[in-house]
Amino acid sequence: MSGVLVGPFVYAQTQSVPPDNDTCQTCHADPSMVRADGRPALVRADAFTASVHGVLGCVDCHADLASAAEFPHPERLARVSCRSCHDEPAAGLAGSVHGMLSGAAALQCTSCHGAPHQIRPSSDFESPTYKLQIAGTCGQCHGGLAGPGARRGPAVAGLFADSIHAVALERTTVAPTCTDCHRSHDILRRTDAKSPVHPPNIPATCGACHGEQRRLFGASVHAAQLAAGNAGAPQCASCHTAHRMAATASDEWQLAAVEQCGTCHREALATYRDSVHGQVTALGFTPVAKCADCHESHQVHPVSDARSSVSTQNRLTTCRACHPAATANFVQFQPHANKEDPERSPELYYAALFMDGLLIGVFLFFGAHTLLWFVRERNDSSAEEERRA
Ligand code: HEC
Ligand code: HEC
Ligand code: HEC
Ligand code: HEC
Ligand code: HEC
Ligand code: HEC
Ligand code: HEC
Ligand code: HEC
Ligand code: HEC
Ligand code: HEC
Ligand code: HEC
Repeated sequence: MSGVLVGPFVYAQTQSVPPDNDTCQTCHADPSMVRADGRPALVRADAFTASVHGVLGCVDCHADLASAAEFPHPERLARVSCRSCHDEPAAGLAGSVHGMLSGAAALQCTSCHGAPHQIRPSSDFESPTYKLQIAGTCGQCHGGLAGPGARRGPAVAGLFADSIHAVALERTTVAPTCTDCHRSHDILRRTDAKSPVHPPNIPATCGACHGEQRRLFGASVHAAQLAAGNAGAPQCASCHTAHRMAATASDEWQLAAVEQCGTCHREALATYRDSVHGQVTALGFTPVAKCADCHESHQVHPVSDARSSVSTQNRLTTCRACHPAATANFVQFQPHANKEDPERSPELYYAALFMDGLLIGVFLFFGAHTLLWFVRERNDSSAEEERRA
C-alpha cells in the first residue's frame, strides 16, 4: 500500500500515484459502513471483480478522487461519467426518448445495465441486457406497472410475451426482442422520422429477418403509397400488429386479417360479405376465398395492373387454385358485386330492382285483396244482423 494509516479513518497519501482499489476498500468493503443519511456505502469486492469493470481502478470512474491524498474524502463526490469511456451509447441515450424525459425521470445507464458495480457484458446470461433478459428489463417500465421512480412507458411487454416472436426466442436467439426493432440506446418515438419503427421505415426493420416478404411488399401498391407519404397506407404492423405477432396459418388470424383489410377497404369488405365467399367466412369457415387468397398478401396491385393476381390475365389461374374446373365463363362471377351500383353490376342491379318491384307488387296486391275481403266480411255480417233483427 502506498499510504500510511493515521487513525481508524484517516489515511494520508504519501506519493502522488492515484489511490488503488485496496485503499478505497479499507473502508468500503466494510458491510457496516453507512453514509450520513443511512444508505449503505458498501462495495462488494467479489461482485465488483466479477463485473466487466473488475479490471478498472475505482478512481477510473470516481475520477475526482484520482489525485486524492487524504482520506476520508469529501462527503459528496462528482457523479460518475460513463460517457468518458462509452461515448456512443451515452450520446445515443442523451438524444433518445428516454434521455429527454424531464429531470429525474430521465433514464440512467443503470436503469438497464443494473447496479453500477455489477455490470456484466451483454453476452453474459446473468446480464439484464443479455438477449433473453431484455424484454423483462424494458418490461420494468413497459409492463403496465409503474417503473423505478414511477416511470411508466406505454405497456406493450405483455403483448410481446404472447407473440410468436417471444415463443421463437425460446428456441433461437435469431428471433427478435425489443432492441432488434427499437435499438438499445438511441430509442426514438415512432413519430420521429429517424426511428426504425416510424411507419415508412418498418418494412426495412422487419425485413432484416423477413427479406422475402419485404421484397414482395416493396413492389406493391401499398408500399408505393407508403413511400409517397400516404398516412393511410399499410405497413407490416398494420396487418400483423407491432407486438402481438401471431402465426398466420391459424384460422383465427386468417379471419381477423379479412377484418383488418376491411378497416381501410370498407366497401370492398361490405360487398365481399354479400358474396358466397364472404358469407361462408362470416360463419367462421376458412377454406373459402379470403381477401389475400385473391389479391395476395404482400404483392397487392391495383386490379388494372397486369401483375395483379386478379387482373384479367391472371384471374382464371387465381380462381383455379380452389376451383380447378373453372372456365373463363365461371370467372365472370363478381366477388364484389354490389346490387346498389348499376354501373358495376348491371345484371345484379336490375335483377334486384325487379325482385324488389315484384316483392312490393305482391304485397300491394294481397294487401288490397285482404282489405277488400275484410270490408266484404263486415258488410256480409252487418247484412246478416239486419236480417236477424
Ligand atoms: C477512510 C475511509 C474511506 C476511504 C479510504 C474511502 N472512502 Fe469513500 N466514503 C467514506 C465514507 C465515510 C463515505 C460516506 C460519506 C457520507 O455520505 O457521509 C464515503 C462515500 C463515498 C462515495 C459516495 C459519495 C457520494 O457523493 O454519495 C463514493 C463514490 C466513495 N466514497 C468512493 C470512494 C473511493 C473511490 C475511494 C478510494 C479512492 C474511497 N471512497 C475511499 C469513507 C472512505
Ligand atoms: C465503472 C465505473 C465505476 C467503477 C469502476 C467504480 N464505481 Fe463506484 N460508483 C459508480 C457509479 C455509477 C455509482 C453511482 C453514483 C454515481 O452515479 O456517481 C457509484 C457509487 C459508488 C459509491 C456510493 C454507494 C453506492 O453504491 O451508490 C461508493 C461507495 C463507490 N461507488 C465506491 C467504489 C469503489 C470503492 C470502487 C472500487 C472498488 C468503485 N466504486 C468502482 C461507478 C463506478
Ligand atoms: C433502455 C435501456 C438501456 C440504457 C438506458 C442503456 N443501455 Fe447500454 N445497452 C442496452 C442493451 C439492451 C444492450 C445490449 C444490446 C446491444 O448491444 O445493443 C446495451 C449494450 C451496451 C454496451 C455494449 C455494446 C456497445 O454498444 O458497445 C455498452 C458499452 C453500453 N450498453 C453502455 C451504456 C451506457 C454507457 C449507458 C448510459 C449512457 C447505457 N448503456 C444505457 C440497454 C441500455
Ligand atoms: C474508465 C473507463 C470506463 C468507464 C468510466 C465506464 N466503463 Fe464500461 N467499460 C470499460 C471497459 C474498459 C470495458 C471492457 C471493454 C471490453 O471488455 O471490451 C467496459 C465494458 C462495459 C460494458 C460491457 C460491454 C459489452 O461488451 O457488453 C458495459 C455494459 C459498460 N461498460 C457499461 C458502463 C456503464 C453503464 C458505465 C457507467 C456506470 C461505464 N461502463 C463506465 C470502461 C469504462
Ligand atoms: C418485431 C419488432 C418489434 C419488437 C420485437 C418490439 N417492438 Fe415495440 N414497436 C414496434 C413497432 C413497429 C412499433 C410502432 C407501432 C405502430 O406504429 O403502430 C412499436 C411501438 C412501440 C412503442 C410505442 C407504443 C405506443 O403505443 O405508443 C413502445 C413503447 C414499444 N414499441 C416498446 C417495445 C418494448 C418494450 C418491446 C419489448 C418488450 C418491444 N417494443 C418489442 C416493433 C417492435
Ligand atoms: C426506467 C423505465 C424505463 C425503461 C427501463 C425503459 N423505458 Fe421505454 N419509456 C419509458 C418512459 C417513461 C417513456 C416515455 C413515455 C412517454 O412520455 O410517452 C418511454 C418511451 C419509450 C418509447 C417511445 C414510445 C413512443 O411514444 O413512441 C419506446 C419505443 C420505448 N420506450 C422502448 C423501450 C425499450 C425497447 C426499452 C428496453 C431496451 C425501454 N423502453 C426501457 C420508461 C422506460
Ligand atoms: C431478428 C429477426 C426478426 C425480426 C426483426 C422480425 N421477425 Fe418476425 N419472425 C422471426 C422469427 C425467427 C420468427 C419465427 C418463425 C417460426 O417460428 O417459424 C418470426 C415469425 C413471424 C411471423 C409469423 C410467421 C408465420 O409463420 O406465420 C410474422 C407474421 C412475423 N414474424 C412478422 C414480423 C414483423 C411484422 C416484423 C416487424 C415488425 C418482424 N416479424 C420482425 C424473426 C424476426
Ligand atoms: C396488407 C396486409 C399485410 C401487410 C402490409 C403485410 N402482411 Fe405479412 N401477411 C399478410 C397476410 C394476409 C399473410 C398470410 C398469407 C397466407 O396465409 O397466405 C401474411 C403472411 C406473412 C408471413 C408468413 C409467411 C408468409 O409469407 O406467408 C410473414 C413472415 C409476414 N407476413 C411478414 C410481413 C412483413 C415483414 C411485412 C412488411 C414488409 C408484411 N408481412 C406486410 C398480410 C400483410
Ligand atoms: C374471390 C376473389 C376475391 C376476394 C375473396 C376478394 N376480392 Fe377484391 N377483387 C376481386 C376482383 C376479381 C376484383 C376486380 C373486379 C371487381 O372490381 O369486381 C377485386 C377488386 C378489389 C378492389 C379494387 C377496388 C374496387 O372496389 O374495385 C379492392 C380494394 C379489393 N378488391 C379489396 C378486397 C378486400 C379488402 C377483400 C376482403 C374483404 C377482397 N377484395 C376479397 C377478387 C376478390
Ligand atoms: C392501413 C390501411 C390499409 C390496409 C390495412 C389495407 N389496405 Fe389496401 N390499400 C390501401 C391504400 C391507401 C391503397 C391505395 C389507394 C387506393 O387505391 O385505395 C390500397 C390499395 C389496395 C388495392 C388496389 C386498389 C385498386 O385501385 O385497384 C387492393 C386490391 C388492396 N388495397 C387490397 C388490400 C387487401 C387484400 C388488404 C388486406 C390483406 C389490404 N388492402 C389492406 C390501404 C390499406
Ligand atoms: C381459397 C380458395 C378459393 C378461391 C381462391 C376462390 N374460391 Fe370460390 N369458393 C371457394 C369455396 C370453398 C367455395 C364454396 C364451396 C363450393 O361451392 O365450391 C366457393 C364458392 C364459389 C362460388 C359459388 C359456388 C359455386 O361453385 O358455383 C363461386 C361462383 C365462386 N366461388 C367463384 C370464385 C371466383 C370467380 C374466384 C376467383 C376470382 C374464386 N371463387 C376463388 C373457394 C375459393
